[in-house]
Amino acid sequence: MKIAVTGKGGVGKTSFAATLARIFAEEGRNVLAADADPDANLGQALGFPEEVVDSIIPISKMRKMIEERTGADKDNTFYVLNPKVSDIPDKYGKLYNGVRLLLLGTVDTAGGGCVCPENVILKRIISNLVLHRKDVVILDMEAGLEHLARGTTSGMEQFIVVIEPGARSIQTYRNVKRLALGLGVQQVRVVASKVRDEQDEIFIREKIPEEDFLGFIHYNPDILRADRMGLSPYDCSRELVQEVKEIIKRMEV
Ligand SMILES: Nc1ncnc2c1ncn2[C@@H]1O[C@H](COP(=O)(O)OP(=O)(O)OP(=O)(O)O)[C@@H](O)[C@H]1O
Ligand SMILES: [Mg+2]
Repeated sequence: MKIAVTGKGGVGKTSFAATLARIFAEEGRNVLAADADPDANLGQALGFPEEVVDSIIPISKMRKMIEERTGADKDNTFYVLNPKVSDIPDKYGKLYNGVRLLLLGTVDTAGGGCVCPENVILKRIISNLVLHRKDVVILDMEAGLEHLARGTTSGMEQFIVVIEPGARSIQTYRNVKRLALGLGVQQVRVVASKVRDEQDEIFIREKIPEEDFLGFIHYNPDILRADRMGLSPYDCSRELVQEVKEIIKRMEV
């Protein structure tokens, strides 16, 4: 299963991605969780100790390794487009609580569409994960649609758009769906988070087609509390774990 978790800023993408990863790991599956947000915080949400998280350097910042793999010089005048990356997740990913975390980082793309060696490596790692890695791959994306414009996530099997009960979130879902399907992603589905009451539920069900809807994560102060304490929401809320398990059941059909 290869999933990219996306959506608007602050909706609950990382909390959901981390909980998903921990549940699959608990089931004994081989889980790779990749953090593709420059403001990386998936490690904390997975329950990694602070000193481990602080010691990880994102792949995009490993200029020396990128030069070695792509043959790039410092001006990026020449480099290969198909560097070897298959060993990178195991070599640079850190394992904790049964989840291997890979910090991808991101590349500044003034004007977009940059074909620099950093982008080549990131894109290739992601497509390699999809094509060659067994079991579960979860990608926690940065907010917004830039990754779709850059094409870094075009190889993912499915996208899960996390939304809140609001019109802007619905618009984000529609935009992601249009762009992702255009890139050949097979499925774009929705998890609604921070849902407070029945009115919120009705709003979501009215706006999201039944076949794209995976389930609700209700507004839950324990998730916020976990974040404040630097803990994994998975370890702090049984209700959240139960809701995400229900979502997984629908993902697998
Ligand atoms: N269902 C929920 N109920 C209450 N608070 C939540 C819920 N889901 C997430 N939060 C809180 O909302 C904040 C943002 O959550 P999170 O970091 O998971 O979102 P994100 O979409 O990954 O954000 P970003 O766009 O910054 O990466 C955090 O403080 C988190 O604890
Ligand atoms: Mg996040």
